[in-house]
Amino acid sequence: MTDPLETLEIIPSLFAADPLRYCEALKAAERSKCRRIHLDIMDGHFVPNISFGASVVAAVAKEFPRLFREVHLMVQNPQQHFEAFIKSGAQRLFIHIELAPEVLEETVRCLQSEAVDWGFAVNPETSIETLQTYRDWVLNTQHLLLMSVHPGFCGQTFIEETYERIKELRTHFPHLKLCIDGGIRNREAQRLQALGSESVVMGSAFFKKVSV
Ligand code: DX5
Ligand code: ZN
Repeated sequence: MTDPLETLEIIPSLFAADPLRYCEALKAAERSKCRRIHLDIMDGHFVPNISFGASVVAAVAKEFPRLFREVHLMVQNPQQHFEAFIKSGAQRLFIHIELAPEVLEETVRCLQSEAVDWGFAVNPETSIETLQTYRDWVLNTQHLLLMSVHPGFCGQTFIEETYERIKELRTHFPHLKLCIDGGIRNREAQRLQALGSESVVMGSAFFKKVSV
C-alpha cells in the first residue's frame, strides 16, 4: 500500500508536539519534506482549551521561514486578533463559520480588505446548508478547513461522517481546496485522498511517526 505521507500533502499541527520541543518538531517537519505548518490558536472560550499566541507564529516565521504558516483561529473574537497574527507571519488564516453572525461579518469584512489568504473552518456538527447561507463569501475563498473532530484537543478519534461531508461539499462548492483537520492517521489519510482532499492536518500521528 502506498504511504500517503509520500503522495498527499501532510500539514503537521505543532500543537500536537511536545511543547518543550517545538524546535525539534519543526526540524522534523522540514526533514519530512512538509511545506506547511498548522498553528492551532485556542482562546479558552471558542473552544475549551488554550494553546499559544502570535509570539509562537513569529518565532516559527523567524527560524523556519520555508514552512508556510497556516493559522487556525479557534477564538471567539478573531476580529480583535487577526492583525497580530498577520504581523507575526501568518500566511493563511482560517476563521470558524460558527462565530456569532455579527463577529463573523465584521471579521470577513476586515479580512477582505487585507492582503492575506483566508478561508473558513467548519465544525463537524455544522451543516453544509450553513455554508450556503454565506455562499457569496465562500465563493470568494479558495480553501476550506473541514474539521473531522470537535476542535480543542489533539489526539481525538476521527469522525467517520466526515467522508460523506466531503462528498457533499464537493457537490456544492467544487472550487474549494479541502483540508481535513483532526484525528487523521495513515488509514484515514488514504481514504481522504481518494475522495479528493488536497491536504490533511496531522498532529499526534505525525509526531508519533517522525523522530523529534
Ligand atoms: C483540533 C485542532 C487540530 C489538531 C490536530 O482542535 O484543530 O489541528 O491539533 O491534531 P490530531 O491530528 O492529533 O487530531
Ligand atoms: Zn487545527
